[in-house]
Amino acid sequence: MHNPSEHSLLSAIVDDLAARGWSQQSLFLPAELSRGLAAECRRRYAEGELNPAGVGRGAAQEIREAIRGDQIQWIDPGESDVCDRYLGKMDGLRQAINQGLFLGLEDFECHFALYPPGAFYKRHLDRFRDDDRRMVSAVLYLNEGWQVDDGGQLRMFLAEGVEHDVQPLAGSLVVFLSGDVPHEVLPAGRERLSLTGWFRRRGNDPF
Ligand code: OGA
Ligand code: MN
Repeated sequence: MHNPSEHSLLSAIVDDLAARGWSQQSLFLPAELSRGLAAECRRRYAEGELNPAGVGRGAAQEIREAIRGDQIQWIDPGESDVCDRYLGKMDGLRQAINQGLFLGLEDFECHFALYPPGAFYKRHLDRFRDDDRRMVSAVLYLNEGWQVDDGGQLRMFLAEGVEHDVQPLAGSLVVFLSGDVPHEVLPAGRERLSLTGWFRRRGNDPF
């Protein structure tokens, strides 16, 4: 089903995850698809469909704003062609990770995120204390012509005190183990769009 270059892209991500727990691919999506996704995100924002993101569970509004300032909307299959194409690609990645790393990933949940100018997300881990189903985080960026001076980098805190910054450039994908890599989003000087998601394994609850 995958063409050879798509196959080697997925293998590179799986190999990186196995070797060091994270991967960065600057050409994960064709420009045409990331442009379509950016337009879809902007359209939803203009129509008031994005809402302030929560923090963990049940945190108060003031606490949330001091921690993260992005606006989000969760994506479901069947809402738009561009989103479905993205979900299809991520399902291919889910299967590749399962074949290579035996993580037993069962699904992928994701949301659009829009950081208005000045917004940030303080250092955190993506795995909740009371819900450990999130195994692998995947962030796709949708910003054309992003400059270093625009800020808004994803800063990852890796082993041995190493920090790695990712520019949120259109078509780039960053993937990392949700329980292992603390990270933050630095304040952005211009509107910053992304699609953020998590591959999850089955939960322990009996239902
Ligand atoms: C998140 C997050 C990173 C980014 O939404 O949990 O850390 O670069 N996003 O947008
Ligand atoms: Mn995060």
